[in-house]
Amino acid sequence: MASSQIFVVMVTLVTLLIPTNSLLTPHFYDNVCPQALPVIKSVVHQAILKEKRIGASLLRLHFHDCFVNGCDGSVLLDDTKNFTGEKTAFPNINSIRGFSVVDDIKAAVDKACKRPVVSCADILAIAARDSVAILGGPQLFYNVLLGRRDARTASKAAANSNLPPPSFSFSQLISNFKSHGLNVRDLVALSGGHTIGFAKCNFFRNRIYNETNIDPSFAASLRKTCPRKGGDNNLTPLDATPLRVDTTYYTDLVHKKGLLHSDQQLYSGKGRESDKLVELYSKSPLAFARDFKASLIKMGNLKPLTGTQGEIRSNCRRVR
Ligand code: HEM
Ligand SMILES: *[C@@H]1O[C@H](CO)[C@@H](O)[C@H](O)[C@H]1NC(C)=O
Ligand SMILES: *[C@@H]1O[C@H](CO)[C@@H](O)[C@H](O)[C@H]1NC(C)=O
Repeated sequence: MASSQIFVVMVTLVTLLIPTNSLLTPHFYDNVCPQALPVIKSVVHQAILKEKRIGASLLRLHFHDCFVNGCDGSVLLDDTKNFTGEKTAFPNINSIRGFSVVDDIKAAVDKACKRPVVSCADILAIAARDSVAILGGPQLFYNVLLGRRDARTASKAAANSNLPPPSFSFSQLISNFKSHGLNVRDLVALSGGHTIGFAKCNFFRNRIYNETNIDPSFAASLRKTCPRKGGDNNLTPLDATPLRVDTTYYTDLVHKKGLLHSDQQLYSGKGRESDKLVELYSKSPLAFARDFKASLIKMGNLKPLTGTQGEIRSNCRRVR
């Protein structure tokens, strides 16, 4: 064998032996259903035209799916006799939304493909990617990795223990993300998901009445729509531009205008690694786009079911 051939063989072997997340591939549906991705994008686009917030809700669904036993569509399952699902867990109840858009996407993509070939877990990954690109522009578009299969079960207990609550401190956030194989950079970049969407008063009431690392006039204006008692469901934007994927979330943090306790934990002004990243992203939309996309791909790789594991659901709310 010529040395160049030996080199090719070695590279191939190394590629096969090093465990990567290459179980997923951007080309998974290219042959089996080339219409799948354009159809999903068009339903997401329609849904956002109808209600701009839905892009945020779809992004959050993907996050809440991936952080609970991996990106396996478990968040979409309704309760059954066999298990209590994730929809009624504390971080999700009366909060997570977008299920009917997922149903619409599933119906449209199964019709276009003439059979159920696209998993609900992949639908969430694609819908999150499309929402971010539609609300943020082409520099936020990335090739989403595909080939996830759907779980046959879901767990309320796992959702309660694996999703971070907004009361978490910096070190709790770090260790929660670490438990999912995500580092400080991923934490700061992915928290940028809060560049879009809204939060309910009960999730930030303690912050606006009790905390000191908050801009006083920002806190005062929030108290008008979020009273000490009542108004639990009143919505407030997570950053000053809740319908645009941009870097306002980070400039808000630098100015002590983070809405959630957990948001402001990322910026202490003391020069920690996370402070430096918040400052970087606040100044550089390009750096944010680069790292947000990379971390979303990393999050999308969390423990996928592949090959013959799990199933492809025909209704995202139910196992087959
Ligand atoms: C770092 C830990 C995180 C905590 C503690 C947290 C907590 C929360 C809370 C409390 C809300 C408001 C829910 C409501 O009022 O109904 C929210 C909304 C949201 N979160 Fe997070 N989150 C975190 C990370 C993430 C990540 C990693 C993403 C995605 C990459 C994300 C995306 C969103 C979006 C888009 C919304 C708005 C949803 C909507 O308007 O429907 N969050 N989050
Ligand atoms: C519950 O589990 C049993 C055994 O795995 C299965 O046969 C049945 O279809 C499941 N029921 C529901 C409602 O998912
Ligand atoms: C402020 O903190 C006190 C003491 O922890 C607590 O009892 C109270 O409920 C908090 N206020 C709000 C509005 O959350």
